[in-house]
Amino acid sequence: MKLLSTLVLSAALAVSAFAQKSYTIKFAHVVASATPKGKAADFFAKRLEEITNGQIKVQVFPSAQLYDDDRVFMAMKMDNVQMAAPSFSKFTPLAPAFQLFDLPFIFRDTAHLHKVLDGEVGEAIKQKIEDKGFVALDYWDAGFKQFSSSKKPLIVPDDAKGQKFRIMSSKVLEEQTRAVGGNPQVLPFSEVYSALQQGVVDAAENPLSNFYNSKFHEVQSSLTISDHGYLGYLVVVSDKFWKSLPDDLKAKVKQAMKEATQFEREESAKDEAILLAKVEEYAKNTGKLQITKLTPAQKAEWQKVMSTIYPKFYDVIGKDLIEKTMNTK
Ligand code: LMR
Repeated sequence: MKLLSTLVLSAALAVSAFAQKSYTIKFAHVVASATPKGKAADFFAKRLEEITNGQIKVQVFPSAQLYDDDRVFMAMKMDNVQMAAPSFSKFTPLAPAFQLFDLPFIFRDTAHLHKVLDGEVGEAIKQKIEDKGFVALDYWDAGFKQFSSSKKPLIVPDDAKGQKFRIMSSKVLEEQTRAVGGNPQVLPFSEVYSALQQGVVDAAENPLSNFYNSKFHEVQSSLTISDHGYLGYLVVVSDKFWKSLPDDLKAKVKQAMKEATQFEREESAKDEAILLAKVEEYAKNTGKLQITKLTPAQKAEWQKVMSTIYPKFYDVIGKDLIEKTMNTK
């Protein structure tokens, strides 16, 4: 009897210790806290702490304070970081099919993009990174990429000839740059401002949220609203950490993420017009930034040259995934 009650007591103690076990998530990203990704990471942290009554704490490290995107995957494998939201290009060395999202002019607009990400194609791409031992949660937006330069405004494809472009590590971006006669240079995001300032590179491609919040407008003399490609993110979790979480907390992480994703997409959509107005105001006040919005005919010229690279990626991405993306209505 005594033995039985001791056993019951120790089992109860073990259960309560397990129920109270607390967890910490380090969430590393490379952009400013004021970007949609930065705001959504903070939103997620607050919300998850709330709904778990503090059982899961989330520490957000913006601006590559902890790791840049190229090293964050290794850090996650070692469980030094539990969450990150790298842009699609950063996944491509691990899972080359992510290059699908880098293809120039693959997405017609945000509605098309969301249909693809939230549908069969998005799921198939998530699986590719799950196969590499990461847990894939939701897709987040940054926005369509715009060209900028300090050498020559990029209005027609010929303007790119001989310019050095900072690109993220992605074969598609390399080929896209070469297709217009530019010289691609892979650099981590944390080095872009100084590389542009010191003329290590002449040109770049960024969504307005990164262009403005990282103050690239201060070190570029022209901005072209080209919408030629898309930059988005996938939020991933360390497999080791995920496996350590009980099921009820896993469900809460998913719930907080779902709310953060909705918030992130709304912020991103709202930001587009606000940020364009801000760069326009900067251009007007300083006279130091020439802004050009490409006409549909000018866009078509870039598209014509850049889309010649698609066949080079049929094997690595899968022609079926490219076609499914293009045919998504
Ligand atoms: C970049 O390197 O340009 C982007 O991936 C940065 C980001 O996370 O938006």
